[in-house]
Amino acid sequence: IVSVRDFDKQKFETVFQATDKIIGMNQNERREIVRGKTLGYLFFEPSTRTRLSFEAAMASIGGTSLGIADASSSSARKGESLADTVKIMSLYSDVLVLRHQLDGSSRFAAEISEKPLINAGSGTEEHPTQAILDLYTIRKEKKKIDGLKIGIVGDLKYGRTVYSLLYALSNYNVDVKLISPPSLKIRSDSTYEIRKKLQYSETSDLEENLDDLDVIYVTRIQKERFADLEEYVKVKGSYKIGPELVKKMKDDAIIMHPLPRLDEISHEIDSTKQAKYFKQAQYGKDTRAALLALILNENGI
Ligand code: CP
Repeated sequence: IVSVRDFDKQKFETVFQATDKIIGMNQNERREIVRGKTLGYLFFEPSTRTRLSFEAAMASIGGTSLGIADASSSSARKGESLADTVKIMSLYSDVLVLRHQLDGSSRFAAEISEKPLINAGSGTEEHPTQAILDLYTIRKEKKKIDGLKIGIVGDLKYGRTVYSLLYALSNYNVDVKLISPPSLKIRSDSTYEIRKKLQYSETSDLEENLDDLDVIYVTRIQKERFADLEEYVKVKGSYKIGPELVKKMKDDAIIMHPLPRLDEISHEIDSTKQAKYFKQAQYGKDTRAALLALILNENGI
């Protein structure tokens, strides 16, 4: 799974149904799904949710995990190449999970790996399993995806979760509002497919659009992606969702965030019925368990 662009509506539905099935299983049934299989993870960038949810997902369906959570403690620090690191990991595991700072890293690694490889975030390019769990969250919490009005807020220029989500949403009949500071609009080099297939408009004004949205997907402005810190300082804190803004939302709107967050969603919002970002992280474990089961279990689930 290198790009969410390799998925269509039917493939998403296969994953969603496998997720529902796994959630419905008892623990004994679940633990048989990939018994004896090993997941190998390589994280060249920090992670909390993606790495831990893959590990928790693998354990929940009976497999084990090993890996490098911090590349500075691996032989990459001595100069070992990504290619050799991937080759070695594919000797010790049945499926690989890679997060790397370079665009194209997962495509490159998938060609080298002798085992299936899952992209857990490649540069500013894509984070396909995040998009899958995002779609699952929308489907579960709103009972549908088609017909919704979805606002995506924040760092749209560098946000790999944003690109994967937009590619994924382009399979559905949705109305997307892209809300960002002008300097953080989606990159023109990545939008051909999105422009062709997705109905979207762009604005920098969050408040004027809030009462019309079914889903408000908030993202962090990512300091680590800016080449010039002065540019970051100009846009940091551009959007802050607090109680006053929640009052302006539809009563049944949902607020999502891939996390981690800084100050773009106030902690006061966490207990509101609209806040779904922790549930979203829980669905991350469930959807990743389904993906691992579909990849590793020849007999299906
Ligand atoms: N959403 C996400 O990718 O979180 P982590 O960076 O903590 O894995």
